[in-house]
Amino acid sequence: SVTDTEIDLALFGALGDLALRKLFPALYHLDREGLLPEGTRLVGLARQDLDGEAFRQQVAGALQQRVKSDEQDKTSLKRFLARLDYLKLDFSSVEGYEAVRAWREGSPRPMVVYLSVPARIYGDICRNLQASGSLDDSTRVVVEKPIGYDLASSQEINDVIGEVFPESRIYRIDHYLGKETVQNLIALRFANPLFGTQWNQNHISHVEITVAEQVGIEGRWGYFDQAGQLRDMVQNHLLQLLCLIAMDPPSNLDADAIRDEKVKVLKALKPFVGEALGRDVVRGQYTAGTSQGAAVPGYLEEEGANTDSHTETFVAMKTEVANWRWAGVPFYLRTGKRMPEKLSQIVIHFRQQPHYIFDPDQRSLAANKLIIRLQPEEGIALQVLTKDSGLDKGMRLRPGPLHLDFNNAFPKSRIPDAYERLLLEVMKGQQYLFVRRDEVEHAWRWCDQLIAGWEARDMPPRRYPAGSWGPVASIAMITQDGRSWYEDY
Ligand code: BG6
Repeated sequence: SVTDTEIDLALFGALGDLALRKLFPALYHLDREGLLPEGTRLVGLARQDLDGEAFRQQVAGALQQRVKSDEQDKTSLKRFLARLDYLKLDFSSVEGYEAVRAWREGSPRPMVVYLSVPARIYGDICRNLQASGSLDDSTRVVVEKPIGYDLASSQEINDVIGEVFPESRIYRIDHYLGKETVQNLIALRFANPLFGTQWNQNHISHVEITVAEQVGIEGRWGYFDQAGQLRDMVQNHLLQLLCLIAMDPPSNLDADAIRDEKVKVLKALKPFVGEALGRDVVRGQYTAGTSQGAAVPGYLEEEGANTDSHTETFVAMKTEVANWRWAGVPFYLRTGKRMPEKLSQIVIHFRQQPHYIFDPDQRSLAANKLIIRLQPEEGIALQVLTKDSGLDKGMRLRPGPLHLDFNNAFPKSRIPDAYERLLLEVMKGQQYLFVRRDEVEHAWRWCDQLIAGWEARDMPPRRYPAGSWGPVASIAMITQDGRSWYEDY
């Protein structure tokens, strides 16, 4: 008999970077934790002329590099590799797909098709799978970003997939939704009455979302230069985080209940028009500088660079969710490459007390902050004020964290990688961590108008040295409001 989560996984692009770096390690971990049922089978599909044995060796090599040595054990590795098959396939021609159909023949399990390939070949693959009779009513499809370059191109891609698969069987990945702390946002907000009652403009003064990366372009100049940081990071990851912070409570945890609420937030996002374009958005591009003590080139000096490029590698913005809950509360977002450290966190700043009775010099301290740290160390800290200890301190205040570090608090539980959780949800057939078509489209609409504004005003990016926190103007943008970016934890 087949268990609920047992699947046949067909992984297109099985020798690509994402598959070897993320997907196979994630699947291995699931297997090791006993989460891949006995009958689960995997077939890798790619153009390369390999046999099954050579393919398993490549995967084994990738696992050796990517999985911590104390998590590699012979029995699990052997069991996992034994599940893998390989099919050499020219994705664009229907002939070879007969082999996929044959691989599926008689299987009682649903098939999951994972498209770890560029979006321009989604259409070929979906149509050929259908024409070859490899699909049935239980087949699910998983796709990765980037889903398009703007609204129109995202619609084309979604149409192509939609010709073959209904929305209820399409799983669009935003890997940020699989991160442990992102999940915790839902628990924190909707399981804790303390936060539930405070989560609005009466109690929150502003929100910060920082997703800083230390890496530069890492050999992806060609792709990145067409996209830029707004399309690469804000359109998906940062807006998803913003939605989870800002959405109204869903009436239950069903995928559509959650996604309906997220869509409402996207629709309520204020567009940048007129003056706001110059005032509330800062684009940046890194120049040569240092990273972890070593000299690194600027964006325009990276391998393969076109030296005239105006593509941004950093963006900071102040936006607002124009609805009853959030009116007047700025959301400050920033994300960039070649920042001093890898740091992703959300900071919720609560309002000050209506009447203040302590040392006037300490007034600026007097507000609580909730810091939700996605990476590097996942955790949640609530910054509260207490009295400084010591006889000579009088009523001096001291800010300090009530701190929940997931690694220390729950030392035995390994924090799974985002892809492990997402793959498990696909196996279960649950869509709440995946992005629905209308979410993608509303996010593009908002980004498209911003990009159109940049283009109309001819706004080149400001420079910032690699290893800094971005252009000075991004700091001025928030200090003008009497606030600052929060970098501690
Ligand atoms: C990807 C972007 O979606 O996310 C990359 O395309 C970026 O440019 C990456 O580096 C960041 O992911 P993470 O999980 O390392 O924060």
